[in-house]
Amino acid sequence: MGNTAMDRVPCSWCGAAVFALLLGAVSSQNLMLCYYVPTSYFPVSDVPADLCSHLVYSFGQITSTGIVPVRQSDLQRYRVLVGLKKKNPKLKVLLSLQKDFPSVVDAGTTVMENFSSSAVKFLTSNGFDGVDLDWEFPSGKQRNSYAAFIQIFNADLKKAGLLLSAALPNNPYSFKAGFDPGTLTREMDFMTVMAYDFHLYLAGRDNRTGYNSPLFTPKGESKFLSTAAMVEYYKQVGISASKLLMGIPSYGRSWKLANASQHGLHAPATGKGDPSPYRHFKGLYLYPDVCMARQLGAAEVFDKENVASYLYTKNKDWVAFDSQDTVLAKVNFMKKLKLAGVGIWALHLDDVTGVCKAGPLPLLNEIKKALQNYSNSTLADSWK
Ligand SMILES: *[C@@H]1O[C@H](CO)[C@@H](O)[C@H](O)[C@H]1NC(C)=O
Ligand SMILES: *[C@@H]1O[C@H](CO)[C@@H](O)[C@H](O)[C@H]1NC(C)=O
Ligand SMILES: *[C@@H]1O[C@H](CO)[C@@H](O)[C@H](O)[C@H]1NC(C)=O
Ligand SMILES: *[C@@H]1O[C@H](CO)[C@@H](O)[C@H](O)[C@H]1NC(C)=O
Ligand SMILES: *[C@@H]1O[C@H](CO)[C@@H](O)[C@H](O)[C@H]1NC(C)=O
Repeated sequence: MGNTAMDRVPCSWCGAAVFALLLGAVSSQNLMLCYYVPTSYFPVSDVPADLCSHLVYSFGQITSTGIVPVRQSDLQRYRVLVGLKKKNPKLKVLLSLQKDFPSVVDAGTTVMENFSSSAVKFLTSNGFDGVDLDWEFPSGKQRNSYAAFIQIFNADLKKAGLLLSAALPNNPYSFKAGFDPGTLTREMDFMTVMAYDFHLYLAGRDNRTGYNSPLFTPKGESKFLSTAAMVEYYKQVGISASKLLMGIPSYGRSWKLANASQHGLHAPATGKGDPSPYRHFKGLYLYPDVCMARQLGAAEVFDKENVASYLYTKNKDWVAFDSQDTVLAKVNFMKKLKLAGVGIWALHLDDVTGVCKAGPLPLLNEIKKALQNYSNSTLADSWK
């Protein structure tokens, strides 16, 4: 118990037992999977041990012969994250992979097998509990070899008692092209629906205000532009609800209104919003930016029908974001659908410096609270 080295001794006979144990854990608990991206303002030493059930280090680097750290200093950060398991023995720490899948998946079975056994050694020796595949996105030509790769990799992962998860696209077109639902639902321990970036300003194409991550698709928009629609889509193509995590963003998207007096949903916009008040990103609001905008007197609206929040400023900036209200309603909906839990992009986009005056990581703490108290909430029925 608690001996991480022992937990991970590879053995051929324990794979099945470990797998059964993991499945049990997945279906009986509300997973809260949080992506961690190292940044100067949110060093790994600030990551709490007891907020998330799963921490996912973003990212490791794929090469044709295995996984390597993106930068040498990542190795020390891996150790700190994995070390949090001493404080919270239930915590799982995964490594996410995003780029350079083609160097393995397009290179044939031998390279896949070599990559797989070497990657498992890398994960094990660095103390990880598993790996997350975040390929954005395999093409139609890569679909079959990606499915084969997932099978090869997972066989080795399971022999070592490691988890396999994936991030799924926010639209059916990318999914249909590159992913095989049967393989995913069989091989993956869980999958996060990347239910965000449904709208961001694009000149001439997405130039009316829109929600980054609504729970429901607003009237007049095409069917799949929401969290609930994409979750439903994945269930329809045969992915088990008990393996799906609802993706929730801790960031919002901003727009520049064409006309200060037209500040609702689908109002004309001329560009991305100005650099955000706290982190100074154009077109992007982190949660502390939302809090600072509130403090500067922005007007805020909770669209209860679609479950989305937005604010607008005197400077004609318009921001769609996730609030306490939206995350509570989303978590309640997730529970109603009996999904496995939520996946959050990302820790560092929440308020890490106390701008909101609500303690560290207030939005993620709201999510955690909602996961624990889902059935007892004032917003439980807001989405009916
Ligand atoms: C696979 O790994 C073996 C042993 O490390 C090596 O000899 C062989 O060249 C590798 N094959 C490929 C295709 O990378
Ligand atoms: C939005 O795009 C459409 C189609 O390209 C264009 O006709 C319209 O003028 C644009 N609106 C704004 C406010 O830029
Ligand atoms: C701005 O919107 C208001 C309300 O819809 C409208 O009366 C006004 O003419 C608009 N102004 C411009 C410059 O389009
Ligand atoms: C959630 O539940 C816990 C334990 O039952 C309780 O202590 C806490 O006050 C609850 N929080 C809310 C917001 O209801
Ligand atoms: C929710 O929790 C509060 C405080 O714990 C309690 O007073 C209330 O009755 C609960 N509501 C429901 C619907 O269970």
